[in-house]
Amino acid sequence: MASVVVHPETRIATERSLEGKVALITGGSRGIGRAIAMEFAQRGAFVAVNFKASQAAAEEVRQTIRGLGTECELFQEDISNRQRARKLIEDVTSCYGRIDILVNNAGITRDRSIRKMTDDEWSEVIDTNLNSVFYCTSAAVPYMIEQKFGRIVNIASFSGQAGNFGQANYAATKGGIIAMTKVLALELAKFNITANVVAPGFTETEMLAAIPADVMEQILSKIPLKRLARPEEIARAVAFLVCDGDYVTGQQLNVNGGIYM
Ligand SMILES: NC(=O)c1ccc[n+]([C@@H]2O[C@H](COP(=O)([O-])OP(=O)(O)OC[C@H]3O[C@@H](n4cnc5c(N)ncnc54)[C@H](OP(=O)(O)O)[C@@H]3O)[C@@H](O)[C@H]2O)c1
Repeated sequence: MASVVVHPETRIATERSLEGKVALITGGSRGIGRAIAMEFAQRGAFVAVNFKASQAAAEEVRQTIRGLGTECELFQEDISNRQRARKLIEDVTSCYGRIDILVNNAGITRDRSIRKMTDDEWSEVIDTNLNSVFYCTSAAVPYMIEQKFGRIVNIASFSGQAGNFGQANYAATKGGIIAMTKVLALELAKFNITANVVAPGFTETEMLAAIPADVMEQILSKIPLKRLARPEEIARAVAFLVCDGDYVTGQQLNVNGGIYM
């Protein structure tokens, strides 16, 4: 009979399983990014929170995380700009000396049907949601290779898997992120770097604030679980990939109430 080998590195996840790790969350000041920052902080990571403009919200995140007894710094950069995005990675690595976890979360919508969508609405979403992922990831990867450790989680959307009316720009970015993540997983596996996608469904954040009540009712009627996701539910999926997903790479984890299967 084959003997069972117990690998010493196999560990049981603990509350503080990210102790000593440095995690950067883009767009960490609000919504899903904020929830991810909190989840990582509770697990003991040093949390670097990027944001674009909402200083007060970012400051609240920093204070709350420090209240948990965890280190947190804010990094205000517009990551749709390649120089600013690369400066973000430089600043985080010179602040902490390393970067273990990168969550490419920042995103925007500029919804309009293809017949009415302007070039600016197209480009702004592509720059913010997709190009930023390339800028940040390509700048962070050399540090992760040097460390022989990295966890990359890219936040996509069911819209990039199934399509969604009025979101040609947004869906293109999210589908692009899914494809890019598979390539990252292939290229980086030999350096002990994993890359995965979390694809949320409709989630209770300010991103949905502009949706009229009647449209929201239609949306809810199409979700098998009949409710929106809470940001914390997305954050827990991200934490799973980072803390317990050592053998998971190139995958899409759908946290969407069943709206896309
Ligand atoms: N909410 C949903 O239903 C839903 C569903 C599927 C996927 N998602 C995805 O989940 C992610 C987070 O969405 P959310 O709902 O939490 O959005 P949100 O509440 O609107 O927050 C967006 C975050 O992204 C930051 N951000 C936007 N543009 C940026 C830029 N150019 N540079 C740096 N930071 C920037 C914002 O910073 P400021 O605070 O400074 O503006 C904010 O922290 C996005 O990728 C989104 O596409 C959301």
